[in-house]
Amino acid sequence: MKIDIPQRFLEILKNAGSVVVSTGAGVSAESGVPTFRGEDGLWKKFRPEELATVEAFQRNPQLVWEWYQYRRDIIKKIKPNPGHYAIADMAKYFDKFQLITQNVDVLHRQAGSTDVIELHGNIRRNKCIKCGKINYDEGFAQFPPLCGCGGRLRPDVVWFGEMLPEDDLEKAFDVSRSCDLFFSVGTSGIVQPAASLPPTARQNGAFVVEINLEPTELTFVTNEHYHGKSGEILPVIVEKIKQLRG
Ligand code: APR
Repeated sequence: MKIDIPQRFLEILKNAGSVVVSTGAGVSAESGVPTFRGEDGLWKKFRPEELATVEAFQRNPQLVWEWYQYRRDIIKKIKPNPGHYAIADMAKYFDKFQLITQNVDVLHRQAGSTDVIELHGNIRRNKCIKCGKINYDEGFAQFPPLCGCGGRLRPDVVWFGEMLPEDDLEKAFDVSRSCDLFFSVGTSGIVQPAASLPPTARQNGAFVVEINLEPTELTFVTNEHYHGKSGEILPVIVEKIKQLRG
């Protein structure tokens, strides 16, 4: 695949000291993970208020768990795609590099990314709503599963209306404020506070690049945008980085 990389962007790729990559569901689409708002997105088929809120869990924990088990089963069978691997590779070429994701599918880690800010949690993890203990248990005999303390376990993901993990959020904004180059990959840019990261980076002088299948709410804050598949575009950009910085 060939993409046009203008001179200004080439210079940034050559000289940038700190880089942030922020991803959404689109980076996992080529692995077979349904996005949320795309054509066959999850929120086209399911009602978030019935499945992804604290109230929904209190009302019907069985239904919520069945849905997360369904998503866990999908995610267990899939593998990272060239987009995930390109991002893991990109990290080696910059002094400061931070990956931030809204995805709960753990595919970035599977692709070899070690330092990942998981803003919306991790679908493979459970948390006790009573004692707060975390575990990675699977294959529960009953739903909702219980913690040793007798409390109910819930998937350790951030639901609508819930606060994001404070430390992670603060770090995400800090690195976005101080980076030279910011990539926004595979996100519709609708959900806050993650959608504020690209404009924050731009306002603080970073060169912002969007890689997304289609224009988004964020396209207007970018210096450069590539509308296509991240699994095809990212490897080309990383190849260029290797040539310039290898
Ligand atoms: N390559 C690049 N972009 C893609 C690809 C692809 N192969 N396939 C789809 N996309 C784009 C779509 O065009 C869309 O703009 O990815 C974007 C995915 O947007 P959403 O489905 O809205 O997902 P996201 O932005 O990650 O959602 C944010 O919303 O539902 C909550 O907590 C959930 O983390 C999620 C948050």
